[in-house]
Amino acid sequence: MGSGILAFSLFLALLLRCLAFQQPNTDGFLISEFFTKMGAKLPLLSLNDSSSSFCSWSGVSCDSTRENVVELRASGLGLSGAIPENTIAKLSKLQVLDLSMNNITELSSDLWGLGSSLKTLNLSINRITGPLPNNVGNFGYMETLDLSHNGFSGEIPADISSMSGLRLLNLSRNAFEGRMSEGIANCKNLVVLDLSNNELGGEFSDAFFSSLKNLSFLDFSGNRIQGRLPDLSGMKSISYLNVSGNLLRGSISDVLLETLEVIDLSNNQFEGLISQVNHGSRLGLSSLYYLDLSGNHLSGTLFSDLGRFSSLKHLNLADNRFSHQNFPNTQNLLNLEYLNLSQTNLTGPIPSEFSEFIRLKIVDLSHNQLTGETPDLISVKLRVLDLSSNNLSGEIPLQLLEMLPIMEAFNFSYNNLTFCADKLPFQKYNSSFIGLQNSCPIAANPNMLACKGSKHRKRKLALAVALSVAFFLLGIGCVFYGCRKSTRAWAVKQLSFKEEQNVSGPYSFQTDSTTWVADVKVATSVPIIMFEKPLLNFTFADLLSATSNFDRGMLLAEGRFGPVYRGFLPSGVQVAMKVLVHGSVVSDQDAAKELERLGRIKHPNLVPLTGYCLAGDQRIAIYEYMENGNLHNLLHDLPLGVQTTEDWSNDTWDDENNGSQNITTEGATTWRFRHTIALGVARSLAFLHHGCFPQIVHRDVKSSSIYLDSALEPRLSDFGLSKVVGINSDDQMSQGTTGYAPPELSEPEMATPKLDVYSFGIVLFELVTGKKPIGDEYPGEKESTLVGWVRAMVKKNHGLMAVDPKIRETGSEKQMEEALRIAYLCTADLPSKRPTMQQIVGLLKDIEPVARDQ
Ligand SMILES: *[C@@H]1O[C@H](CO)[C@@H](O)[C@H](O)[C@H]1NC(C)=O
Ligand SMILES: *[C@@H]1O[C@H](CO)[C@@H](O)[C@H](O)[C@H]1NC(C)=O
Ligand SMILES: *[C@@H]1O[C@H](CO)[C@@H](O)[C@H](O)[C@H]1NC(C)=O
Ligand SMILES: *[C@@H]1O[C@H](CO)[C@@H](O)[C@H](O)[C@H]1NC(C)=O
Ligand SMILES: *[C@@H]1O[C@H](CO)[C@@H](O)[C@H](O)[C@H]1NC(C)=O
Ligand SMILES: *[C@@H]1O[C@H](CO)[C@@H](O)[C@H](O)[C@H]1NC(C)=O
Ligand SMILES: *[C@@H]1O[C@H](CO)[C@@H](O)[C@H](O)[C@H]1NC(C)=O
Ligand SMILES: *[C@@H]1O[C@H](CO)[C@@H](O)[C@H](O)[C@H]1NC(C)=O
Ligand SMILES: *[C@@H]1O[C@H](CO)[C@@H](O)[C@H](O)[C@H]1NC(C)=O
Ligand SMILES: *[C@@H]1O[C@H](CO)[C@@H](O)[C@H](O)[C@H]1NC(C)=O
Ligand SMILES: *[C@@H]1O[C@H](CO)[C@@H](O)[C@H](O)[C@H]1NC(C)=O
Ligand SMILES: *[C@@H]1O[C@H](CO)[C@@H](O)[C@H](O)[C@H]1NC(C)=O
Repeated sequence: MGSGILAFSLFLALLLRCLAFQQPNTDGFLISEFFTKMGAKLPLLSLNDSSSSFCSWSGVSCDSTRENVVELRASGLGLSGAIPENTIAKLSKLQVLDLSMNNITELSSDLWGLGSSLKTLNLSINRITGPLPNNVGNFGYMETLDLSHNGFSGEIPADISSMSGLRLLNLSRNAFEGRMSEGIANCKNLVVLDLSNNELGGEFSDAFFSSLKNLSFLDFSGNRIQGRLPDLSGMKSISYLNVSGNLLRGSISDVLLETLEVIDLSNNQFEGLISQVNHGSRLGLSSLYYLDLSGNHLSGTLFSDLGRFSSLKHLNLADNRFSHQNFPNTQNLLNLEYLNLSQTNLTGPIPSEFSEFIRLKIVDLSHNQLTGETPDLISVKLRVLDLSSNNLSGEIPLQLLEMLPIMEAFNFSYNNLTFCADKLPFQKYNSSFIGLQNSCPIAANPNMLACKGSKHRKRKLALAVALSVAFFLLGIGCVFYGCRKSTRAWAVKQLSFKEEQNVSGPYSFQTDSTTWVADVKVATSVPIIMFEKPLLNFTFADLLSATSNFDRGMLLAEGRFGPVYRGFLPSGVQVAMKVLVHGSVVSDQDAAKELERLGRIKHPNLVPLTGYCLAGDQRIAIYEYMENGNLHNLLHDLPLGVQTTEDWSNDTWDDENNGSQNITTEGATTWRFRHTIALGVARSLAFLHHGCFPQIVHRDVKSSSIYLDSALEPRLSDFGLSKVVGINSDDQMSQGTTGYAPPELSEPEMATPKLDVYSFGIVLFELVTGKKPIGDEYPGEKESTLVGWVRAMVKKNHGLMAVDPKIRETGSEKQMEEALRIAYLCTADLPSKRPTMQQIVGLLKDIEPVARDQ
């Protein structure tokens, strides 16, 4: 727009300079006269190009003769005062005139002379006052007439009916008064009719709208129209109806037409039993997504079956005269984002299913007599919650309290709630907690409060549908996912340790932090079990040769369970071998059983376990090799993949480097990529938690357990190993990795899937902020951990400041902020407050960047 104005001002400067060159009574002359007289306050530059035709001026279009202007668009140019006579009204072929957003105060009396050509007139947002003359009927070819946002007064002229081709009429925001003109009812081609916010009164005649068969948008909200609505059933394509803020009476059941998408009947005097609407003849309101009946005199009970309105996103029934009734069945309203049942005479408890509406953004249940406990809504989208003036009791669920700092508004006042929390700045929020039972003295010193331990019942947190869909998808992943890569053969050029194949045990191997001993007498007698290739007779001796006797040079990483090596098995398959050093607690038989089970667990976001080897006290798990390294190295600009100093790439791995699309750190610096990683990892964890029986808790989710395969898909590694290793609670191993371990890990019996949810939250923080969980710089806060820092930022609604500057420009900031909110929920102190991995998958999918976001 700015550049448009600039271009236009250049044109205008040129134009005013060239005024002298315009021949009188050409269209160019008329336009320049018009601009000069309307006092366009634009800079006059010393340009000097008299050759240019007015047809090339910005905002002007000519017909093929290049003598007649057909379009003049002069919106927002600071034109002020009355339109002068003998200027634009003399443009004999003018079809489109847009003078919107100026300071025009009066029309010229010759304007109506344009009637033989004008099709579009936009005078919206000016300061034109006085009545609209009947001359408007001269505009016989008019299709679009926008006079909105002016000061027109008096009646809408009856001659408007002469505009038989009119498709759009916008008279909104004027001071038109009197009865609704019958003339309008004759504009049979109207598609959009906006008469809102005027002073129209009177009643409609019975069949007022019956001839407007093409009308799709009807708005006469904010007037003083009385009586009953006329029969609307003639409008076959009406989709938007807004009559809010009038004095209309009568039953609403005739109003609900099946083509409607938006119905706003709020703030009238509609009466009668709302439940009748159900039993009326017009039941198919399947396109309806916005229904506002608030502020009427409707009585009886609410719709008994709201499920009919399955597309609803916005439902407001507030402030009517309904009888006492229980909370309505909202179960089928899966798309609901706004629900207002304030002052609807509701009694009894809020059903627990209510907390499953994860799309809800605004909920108002205030001024009822609701009893029982507060639902623990966990929608991260929740922005406004008003439960004030009810009879709710018990504690405010912690789940909800945790959300409050990231919400826009909430109100729990005037209930019988016990209030207990120590993290909110209560002075700021005190008017949201008026008149609550202070078993915890909120007013005194919130920081001194000791919360009672939560005794929360098990909650059914997720939508049944979301659940089943998730299971379905997981199931598909489980069944159809085949081993994508393991058949890829590598041409191994040369391995340099053949001579050592006859060495006999016990073998002792030294790595940075670990010494491990494989108590193996005859290496060739210890088999390697390969799940996919049971007929290949590999033995421990092959592992020895594949890793140069577990040479430091082949070390990939020092994992928490023990060292990880890479190597080629004799068939040329590259693998990663994880030596599980603490293996002695579990019997060989149990370990083998568990490893066999893990081998059957396949998911596109898990690193496949392809085999194992029981070598004395050690269990060696053999994984598919992930050539693009792990997420930790990628995010924090460390060398990808191999961590050792030796350079393998030059001779041995030539083929690999040609064959795989090695990722650069730049590739990781888009929001889209980071989101893909987050969603992939969430899927893998949802699968382990909910798609595997018995359930698998990973216990060590962190960015260095997340690998990137050749297609750059994230794959979680190390799942299920704690059982193989036999972690017991006093083992130092159960403490988790610093920076990723949730607070409850000090109580080992708390090792539930929520433990993984917490660690996932940290990974998500890491993905969005690009910072390490500990030991990084966290600007502006005294916090020493990533989780402390980001949570503080999110609480203050400064989430965006924590976003990795490298990705901020690469996508929707809103989505990134939302991702931080999700991680915020995941990292709640109390496990019960964290969402499940399935819910997280759903939430992440809701903020999935689409291709064009990039
Ligand atoms: C404008 O045009 C006139 C004659 O056409 C010429 O004398 C004058 O120098 C020009 N001025 C500029 C600034 O080009
Ligand atoms: C209209 O005029 C007023 C002052 O009279 C000025 O402040 C305002 O910016 C003008 N509006 C437009 C759209 O030019
Ligand atoms: C009239 O102009 C205003 C302001 O430029 C614009 O918002 C509106 O859409 C226009 N009306 C029509 C019918 O195009
Ligand atoms: C009519 O004009 C008003 C004010 O300019 C605007 O807000 C409204 O959107 C317009 N109505 C339609 C249907 O375009
Ligand atoms: C309504 O729309 C249809 C199709 O767009 C058109 O043929 C018809 O002329 C329009 N007018 C009336 C009054 O039906
Ligand atoms: C209906 O009109 C009123 C007043 O003009 C407005 O506040 C309200 O938002 C409109 N409803 C819808 C659904 O657009
Ligand atoms: C609910 O509806 C009532 C009545 O229309 C209104 O006053 C209130 O602001 C609405 N609440 C919300 C949260 O929109
Ligand atoms: C609530 O319902 C009861 C009986 O059903 C009725 O007497 C009372 O007037 C209603 N209250 C309101 C505010 O409509
Ligand atoms: C709240 O519940 C108590 C006890 O059941 C009752 O005495 C009181 O009238 C109720 N208050 C409201 C506003 O319904
Ligand atoms: C308020 O709640 C407490 C328990 O939390 C209950 O003992 C008491 O009766 C309730 N009071 C009312 C008025 O409902
Ligand atoms: C909320 O706290 C402010 C001071 O911080 C006080 O002035 C106000 O009265 C309090 N409001 C309520 C409803 O307690
Ligand atoms: C909460 O509701 C009460 C009662 O309706 C009202 O007095 C108070 O101002 C509201 N607080 C906020 C923050 O809206």
